[in-house]
Amino acid sequence: MEKNRVMGRLSSVFLIFLLHVILIATSCKARKPQQQPVDKHRTAFFIFGDSFMDAGNNNYINTTTLDQANFWPYGETYFKSPTGRFSDGRLIPDFIAKYAKLPLIPPFLQPGFRHFYNGVNFASAGAGALVETFQGDVIDLKTQLRYFKKVESWLRKKLGNDEGKLTISKAVYLVSIGSNDYMSPFLTHSTSLNTYTVSTFVGMVIGNLTSVIKEIYKSGGRKFAFVNLPDLGCLPALRLIESRRKGSCLREASLLARLHNKALSNLLYGLERGLKGFKYSLFDFNANLKQRMLHPSKYGFKEGEAACCGTGQFRGVYSCGGKRIVKEFQLCQNPNDYVFWDSFYLTEKAYWQLAHKMWSASNHSHDVSPYSIRKLFRTQ
Ligand SMILES: *[C@@H]1O[C@H](CO)[C@@H](O)[C@H](O)[C@H]1NC(C)=O
Ligand SMILES: *[C@@H]1O[C@H](CO)[C@@H](O)[C@H](O)[C@H]1NC(C)=O
Ligand SMILES: *[C@@H]1O[C@H](CO)[C@@H](O)[C@H](O)[C@H]1NC(C)=O
Repeated sequence: MEKNRVMGRLSSVFLIFLLHVILIATSCKARKPQQQPVDKHRTAFFIFGDSFMDAGNNNYINTTTLDQANFWPYGETYFKSPTGRFSDGRLIPDFIAKYAKLPLIPPFLQPGFRHFYNGVNFASAGAGALVETFQGDVIDLKTQLRYFKKVESWLRKKLGNDEGKLTISKAVYLVSIGSNDYMSPFLTHSTSLNTYTVSTFVGMVIGNLTSVIKEIYKSGGRKFAFVNLPDLGCLPALRLIESRRKGSCLREASLLARLHNKALSNLLYGLERGLKGFKYSLFDFNANLKQRMLHPSKYGFKEGEAACCGTGQFRGVYSCGGKRIVKEFQLCQNPNDYVFWDSFYLTEKAYWQLAHKMWSASNHSHDVSPYSIRKLFRTQ
């Protein structure tokens, strides 16, 4: 097992392992499913991807605390208790749901939850587009797609074929994937980066993402929203791996993110041309996060590089909560002063600002192309 191998190395470089942790999400507090009347005019919201989006699916799978965040202090700011979200509070999809006047979109695996009219969240911390990425510990993108197909059948059964189809075609599909595919080689010694050239590897990730998009399209999905990848090498956790120039960004990881972002943008442009009715919004998560890291005070933060919760330089050791490899950790007084909540993930305040940008940026701006996610919710 990959993890065991990583463990073997931990004595010297436990940090590498920590990276694995990256992807998580949980929630111990299952909310009671709310019975809502079916609103024919609603636009459902389906969420796929990784820990930037996971609202707690990993609480319910057989994994480790590396891929979970269902313990204090995760969730402390907004929810007052951990939910499995990798932040002190809400994530981007929570804010988008709010702007779209939907309730919080629950995780698919939440026990007892069987009310999919408003959509559901399939994302799993640690997941990648490649099935090999943290295999066995996460719900990979293909499995997320399989779950979506179950929901599709459920909707057709409950609403009737026509109304079910309409729900699927009006829905917005938000996808965040790729970070784990590119970070895992640095965390687990997988040989993928030796086996493949960088561009072949990116091509595989993009290829697998493309098939999932096309499957959702085949089911009738038309409105897709994407966030691109952050500058992975500059996340606090990856900076710790850069041993040559202590504290600087891990260049190889940043390169992969850059190549991926370029390929993603080309892919979507091509799909819009090739697939009739396909519409998308691509948010430049990377540029918007970078601005906040470089100029925190302009955005109301005090610290743009180091995390609020963690250990060591930049609090880059993935120890927030003390339930992982390293038990000791520091926690800042006020998460709102920080862009990074822990060594990989952002604070609610940062997510809020980014979600607001995704929603309200003007068409064809630097931030979203070609449209804001709001436009997707507002069009048929
Ligand atoms: C969960 O994983 C552990 C360790 O890999 C294994 O021993 C256990 O049987 C698994 N439990 C389930 C329910 O799959
Ligand atoms: C998807 O990923 C697998 C590895 O998991 C790879 O062998 C395959 O070629 C990829 N598919 C595409 C269409 O790129
Ligand atoms: C974006 O474009 C749509 C039409 O394509 C238009 O209705 C809307 O007002 C535009 N929004 C902004 C903020 O420019």
